[in-house]
This record gives sequence, C-alpha cells and structure tokens, in this order.
Amino acid sequence: MTSYKELGLVNTKDIFKKAVSGGYAIPAYNFNNMEQMQAIIMACVETKSPVILQVSAGARKYANQNILKNMARGAVEYAHELGYDIPIVLHLDHGDSFEICKDCIETGFSSVMIDGSHFSYEENVALTKKVCEFAHSQKDYITVEGELGVLAGVEDDVSSEHSHYTQPSEVVDFVSKTKVDSLAISIGTSHGRAKFKPDQCTRDANGILIPPPLRFDILEEVEKQIPGFPIVLHGSSSVPIEYVHMIEKFGGKLTDSVGIPEEQLRKAAKSAVCKINIDSDGRLAMTAIIRKILVEQPDEFDPRKLIGPARDELKKLYAHKNQNVLGSAGQA
Ligand code: G3H
Ligand code: 13P
Ligand code: ZN
Repeated sequence: MTSYKELGLVNTKDIFKKAVSGGYAIPAYNFNNMEQMQAIIMACVETKSPVILQVSAGARKYANQNILKNMARGAVEYAHELGYDIPIVLHLDHGDSFEICKDCIETGFSSVMIDGSHFSYEENVALTKKVCEFAHSQKDYITVEGELGVLAGVEDDVSSEHSHYTQPSEVVDFVSKTKVDSLAISIGTSHGRAKFKPDQCTRDANGILIPPPLRFDILEEVEKQIPGFPIVLHGSSSVPIEYVHMIEKFGGKLTDSVGIPEEQLRKAAKSAVCKINIDSDGRLAMTAIIRKILVEQPDEFDPRKLIGPARDELKKLYAHKNQNVLGSAGQA
C-alpha cells in the first residue's frame, strides 16, 4: 500500500473548494507517457496552476500502473525542480469497477472516478457508494468522482438522445446517498475529436462545423439543486481547427472534427464546474507536430527530434488553456 502523501500528491478536496468559490476550473489532463507528463508539469508550473494528472484504464494498460505512479512522484519532484510547488492530483479516469478503484487507491492514487453511468440509477448509486466508503475510510482521505448522465463517444452505449443528459432531479439523491466528492454531469460534451454529428451543427462561411451550444440550463438547474457542489465536465476538448488542418495537410484524415468552443468552456469554468477534462486536444497537438516533422524532414529518425517538439507544442497549448480558458493560472 502506497499513500499518495508519500508521493507528494494531494486529493481534490481543497483545490475544488477554492476553484468553486474562485470561479475557475482545475485542468484534468490525461497522460500516458513521459513527454505528456513533462508538458503538463511545465505548463502548470509556468502558469502556477494546480493540476490533475489523469490515468485511464487504457493508459494503465499502455504504460503500466507502477510506472505511471512513479511518474506522478517524478512530476512532483520535477515541479519542485522547476522552481514552484503546485498541487498535483493523481486521478483514475473512468474507473468502471470497484476493483480498479481499489487497486489504484492502494498504489498511490489520490483520487478516483467511478463511472457507473452506464448502469441503472440504483446500480450506479450502490457502486459509487461502495467506492466512496472504501476511499474515504483510508488513512489519507481519497476523493471520489461519480457520474450521472451519459456522454457520447467512449461512453456511447445509450441510444436515446434525451437520456444522455443529466437529470437535475436526481442529483441531490445521488450525492447524499453516495457521498461522492464531485459529480460529472452531461450537458452536451462528448469524448473524442468529433463531438457532434454534422447534422447537429451549422457551418460558417468556410464550411467549418459550428456545434450546438452546451445545455447551460441543465448546469444551472444542477447548481440550484446542489449549491457549491464541485461539478466536473468530461469531453471538453476544443478540437482546434489549426491542428486538424495541419494533420490533414501532412497526410492525415480527420473528417467532421468538431469540439467545444473555448468561450463556452470559459463560461462553464466560472460556475460550479471546477474540473475540466482534456485529452483529445493534446493528442491532436502532438500528432500535428509529429506528422509535420516526418514530412518536412524525411531524413530525421531520432524519436527525440519528433516527440520533443510535440512536447513543446503540448506545453504551449496547456499553458494557453490554463491562462485563457480555465482561469486556473495563478491559483496554485
Ligand atoms: O475519457 C477518455 C480519455 O480520453 C481516455 O482515453 O481510454 O483512449 O486512454 P483512452
Ligand atoms: P476529450 O476527448 O474531449 O479530450 O475528453 C477527455 C475526457 O473526458 C477524459 O475523461
Ligand atoms: Zn471522460
């Protein structure tokens, strides 16, 4: 059993409280490798932002849970070496069983998500409650994120359009029965780089897809039901069109890409939304740069010359998000 405190990590309790009252959101960036972790830490130290390092089940398989845990320890030391100690959370993204949450808790994660949103409401309550009881009874309190409502994309199991959104009438009961520390809700975001179907969008004069607005009415209703309670938004990549164009210019094909406009995320961050999940934008940034170098410098075969510049771009992108979208810059 490793406690997250031994690794120098924090849970989400205090940082969420400050973010809700301060009207900003903490970035939750997914990482799978050293370069992503370095870029996240460089960006967050430079902008003095707290940060949540997120590990998906896929990341655990890809990189190995022990390696990721030790990278999180390294991230704390790296931030210190860069000259500014920021709060760093190691969080399991979309845990789908009690066992995976327990496993992560026992190997040094300071926060877990139990995503029971595909189950019936009663099963979701029971599973989330079980994880909370275990997480909260540890010597060092581990925070738990639950989810109500279903996002499209990786969670795309539910076919009814209406049932994708969170029902505000359920949130008081869910939060009080489960004792979750934060709640992910569904207000129209979705995972991946194609967040809406073209027929759900309009197009601007250049043919670029313009998505429908997020359901801020649902967010407001949720806030009325559980005032000040920490709310999480998944699927919050903006899918920058410059990266999509760069990838396509250098041989890729990313038809019908569309994300969440930054202004809408900025508006959400000013509300009780205190954690915003971003993964796809980082993938796009790194892939765009790697493709460009491969095409423009065909004799290059040193991986550092491909991944290093991709890491620099990722750092730039995440610093921009902290400063101009989430408002987390200067809050560490
Ligand atoms: O929520 C999904 C995240 O983007 C993680 O994606 O399962 O491919 O690592 P992944
Ligand atoms: P994006 O696919 O929009 O980056 O969302 C990531 C996410 O929600 C991870 O849990
Ligand atoms: Zn997610």
